[in-house]
Amino acid sequence: MSEPIFELEQVQQVYDGRTVLDISQLTIHKGEILALVGPSGAGKSTLLRLLNFLEPACKGTIRFDGQVATPELDLVQRRRVTTVFQRPLLLQRSVRANLRYGLGLRGQKLAEAKEEEWLARLGLAELADQAAPKLSAGEAQRVALARAVVTQPDVLLLDEPTANLDPSNVGIIESIIQEENQCSGMTVVLVTHNIFQARRIAHRTALLWAGELIEVAETEQFFSAPGREETAAFVRGDTVY
Ligand SMILES: Nc1ncnc2c1ncn2[C@@H]1O[C@H](COP(=O)(O)OP(=O)(O)O)[C@@H](O)[C@H]1O
Ligand SMILES: [Mg+2]
Repeated sequence: MSEPIFELEQVQQVYDGRTVLDISQLTIHKGEILALVGPSGAGKSTLLRLLNFLEPACKGTIRFDGQVATPELDLVQRRRVTTVFQRPLLLQRSVRANLRYGLGLRGQKLAEAKEEEWLARLGLAELADQAAPKLSAGEAQRVALARAVVTQPDVLLLDEPTANLDPSNVGIIESIIQEENQCSGMTVVLVTHNIFQARRIAHRTALLWAGELIEVAETEQFFSAPGREETAAFVRGDTVY
């Protein structure tokens, strides 16, 4: 496996005196798709917030591409990481305007040919000038994903990006994630409730449980020969979550 993009050591996050995340060690490799699964409240979204520098960890060290992530980490570094949330906030403007937004913030322009290519790829060519609030949930999520990806982040963090979407939308979104990973080497951390999705597209899968990393393994091994009883129970669907 290639070099690390993130290295976490003894990272803890504490809210109101309660430790919700306690990760002794985690390495995320450049160019991998890492799925993060676990019951509700396990700390998955909290971990993504730390990886996106949205809040500092109470304890421990997070190294991003060799550099310790502090609140002072500069904007150029921060922009190398982008999150797509489960319920994306789109601009109340057209699909096109949303696609152009991220690069616009950086003082760059989305090339016209690229824009058309993205609209086709998203299956949204006919809705290019549609106002975002009128889109279905699946269409909106496709736009949110594309809006993040056009800025070419090195790391894409996805927080349950396909929860409550129908299979056709799930398929389009998974294809885009895989293509960007394969063609641009984009590192992806995918939080998902859908263990089948993890099995379909992740290289490695990690189980987070009550804030602790129980197991991190190659996806096939995670599902077919888990090393921990908690993982086996989770994979069997015995865990209520
Ligand atoms: N800002 C916050 N203040 C207090 N508690 C929080 C905050 N954010 C998350 N929590 C708590 O931390 C735990 C982990 O939450 P979260 O990371 O959202 O879990 P998951 O995404 O795995 O469902 C939960 O018990 C949640 O209530
Ligand atoms: Mg969450």
